[in-house]
Amino acid sequence: MKSRLTPIVGTFLVVAAAACGGGSDTTTGPPTPATPSTPSTPSTPSTPATTSTLRQLATAKGRYVGTALDATFFGQSALFGTNPAAYDTLVAREFSMIVAGNVMKWEPLNRNGRLTYRWANPDLLVAFAQANGMKIRGHTLAWHQQNPTWLTSTTYSADTLTAILKEHIDSVVGHYKGKIHAWDVVNEAFNDGTGTLRTTGSPWGSIIGAGYIDVAFQEARKIDPAALLFYNDYNLETPGAKQDSVFARVSSMKARGIPIDGIGFQAHFQINADGSGAPSQQTLVNTFTRFASLGLKVEITELDVRVRTPGAGATELAAQQKLYGDVVSACLAVSACDAIVVWGVNDGESWIPGTFSGWGQALMFDDTLGKKANYDAFRTALGG
Ligand code: XIL
Repeated sequence: MKSRLTPIVGTFLVVAAAACGGGSDTTTGPPTPATPSTPSTPSTPSTPATTSTLRQLATAKGRYVGTALDATFFGQSALFGTNPAAYDTLVAREFSMIVAGNVMKWEPLNRNGRLTYRWANPDLLVAFAQANGMKIRGHTLAWHQQNPTWLTSTTYSADTLTAILKEHIDSVVGHYKGKIHAWDVVNEAFNDGTGTLRTTGSPWGSIIGAGYIDVAFQEARKIDPAALLFYNDYNLETPGAKQDSVFARVSSMKARGIPIDGIGFQAHFQINADGSGAPSQQTLVNTFTRFASLGLKVEITELDVRVRTPGAGATELAAQQKLYGDVVSACLAVSACDAIVVWGVNDGESWIPGTFSGWGQALMFDDTLGKKANYDAFRTALGG
């Protein structure tokens, strides 16, 4: 269900061309909503009509609302009936920020060899966002997963691997210089549970050691001083050894002058069969406040809430909807939190069923782009 490039590219190019050429063929492609104001200067809130979109409501609150996108999901006529632009239109209407779900990662971008890059798909996403006045999160510059074979099959020296990391950041951050709101510079550097530095499966941690984190942030700042630089991870939302470890690390980075601007909370949540599993709104507020106290921004970067499939019952679904609302409310309660990004538009494209067998239905839209109760909860929490 992922081979639908022809209508996608066709649809997309019209949008980008109209934006770039100054023309305005408003009969084709997604609408071009107004550029959202920056979080520090929100547009004047007006009484939202009941039809206000998430994008409009979030903008009125001085927040971005985002989604992960893959280039292959533009213009999904096969999935969404006869309108090949349905997906693109929905994305531009409901969201003010995008992040590449995969195509800016090392493997998709750099699989053909050192310093050989496949820019086409990520460039499509960036142009789509620009044509529609959306912010862009870059994801990600150093991670232990989705690395190319040429990188992982050779045991480089620490010096060589550090040079490879720097040259990759030079290339990628340089390619998108001036276009990226925030980079997830380092992703998932610490082990779940213990919070120790991840070395197993990570060339960065095992060969270079924790110093690679500093190197990556310093290099990214050098190449694009305007991009916000984030550390991004999962299971940081609740107190524990991992949260403490990351807090200690970023405190140390701040103290040592390593340029870090924010923490990305992935927020991949699970509601158990008995309805348990959600962190409380107060827990989320406490966590965001803890990191904000270091002078860091907070963004919720990969929100999804999985339930059992098939068979999730009313209790689970109610807890899922409540959590969607609680995440939004927690972000609104902390001024340092400027963005809430979901990890995909619709359940049919979500990574969850393929990664967590027996789990799914984690997003705000169903397989045919219908709004789910999660959408309503998100919207209500935004004041809609
Ligand atoms: C996932 C993608 O959604 C999948 O398509 C891919 O197969 C694996 O990666 N944390 C992250 C994201 O930081 O990059 C991951 O995305 C989900 C977990």
